Amino acid sequence: MNEWETKCDWNLAETCVESLTIAELLALIGKNDTDLSALLSMKMTYGDTKGSMRLRRAICALYDTQTPENVIVTHGTIGANMLVHKTLVSAGDHVVAVVPTYQQHYSIPASIGADVHPLHQRPENGFLPDLNELRALVTPATKLIAINNPNNLTGSLMDRAVLEQIAVIARNVDAWILCDEVYRGTDQTGTGMTVSIADIYEKGISTASMSKAYALAGLRLGWIAGPHELIEDVAIHRDYDTISVGMINDHFAALALENYDKVLARSHAITRGSLALLSDWVADQSLISWVKPNSGTTALLKFALPMTSRELCVDLLKETGVMFTPGSALNMEGYVRIGYANNPIILQEGLKRVGVYLKKFG
Ligand SMILES: Cc1ncc(COP(=O)(O)O)c(C=O)c1O
Repeated sequence: MNEWETKCDWNLAETCVESLTIAELLALIGKNDTDLSALLSMKMTYGDTKGSMRLRRAICALYDTQTPENVIVTHGTIGANMLVHKTLVSAGDHVVAVVPTYQQHYSIPASIGADVHPLHQRPENGFLPDLNELRALVTPATKLIAINNPNNLTGSLMDRAVLEQIAVIARNVDAWILCDEVYRGTDQTGTGMTVSIADIYEKGISTASMSKAYALAGLRLGWIAGPHELIEDVAIHRDYDTISVGMINDHFAALALENYDKVLARSHAITRGSLALLSDWVADQSLISWVKPNSGTTALLKFALPMTSRELCVDLLKETGVMFTPGSALNMEGYVRIGYANNPIILQEGLKRVGVYLKKFG
């Protein structure tokens, strides 16, 4: 993505709900330029290093049972995930991680020297994990089970019942569950929120951020919600790489989360409208098939073409200016990943161009 995303015309690789400007955020939550003057008197200290109490309270409102003592603010979900893996995993530990998913969850424990076992999420199972396979993978030595809900890349969603079964499996061997919930809030139905692992399992850890569902990746603000002892252990590691996230970021994140219903309503209009559009497009394509997502902002498109995913992506970029992410970069050859929650006009125009391109092949 680094190589091409500044050179493409139609970015269908973006995974954030179309990012907000500060002006759009303020308008969405009923504030205006004069509210920005609150920033002028803000003394630029490190702030409350774990994240302000105001922000941690607003984060807690996204959960059923978390309190500010159970929450620590981090540099995005990427920082949150790194901290949890570094805190919990040591060389030789037995770790289970779902695949496909964000690479951090298997590569960081592997880089620490852990023994990492993939739990496959296959298309024939709606890209959900097979729980019998999980039962067979865990052992009394399993330290951590890393999952991602909703899933990037597939858009699959584990519901409460599945999460509770995973919790039972983990509890039997006293393992931690880290659930990367950065796309939580983007379900295609209802409030958009499936229950968090932190609210259903006593050793459940949720990581998330402002980036995807809340469309504010530029704040670089994420968090960990989990048992207090874990948060204390994480804080020790965090002293070496974070100090604090920045008072201005903390301020805007608190403003947005205090109005999370309004921000999510905008996100749902985009994710739900755009998935309907993508779904109609896929139905018209003879060379494309998929498992339709239930949540998130991404989907895997399987293509029936005599080329690799990278060849397809590079050719598409050159011929149409449209950018997808090649499955090969995600250990999913034969697929491309689309991010469909960017600007709806970009999605519509990009898909039109890909449709014309695919006609060449029949
Ligand atoms: C599953 C997952 N986790 C974590 C991240 C990192 O997100 P951020 O650090 O912006 O919160 C991403 C970004 O694409 C992601 O898809």
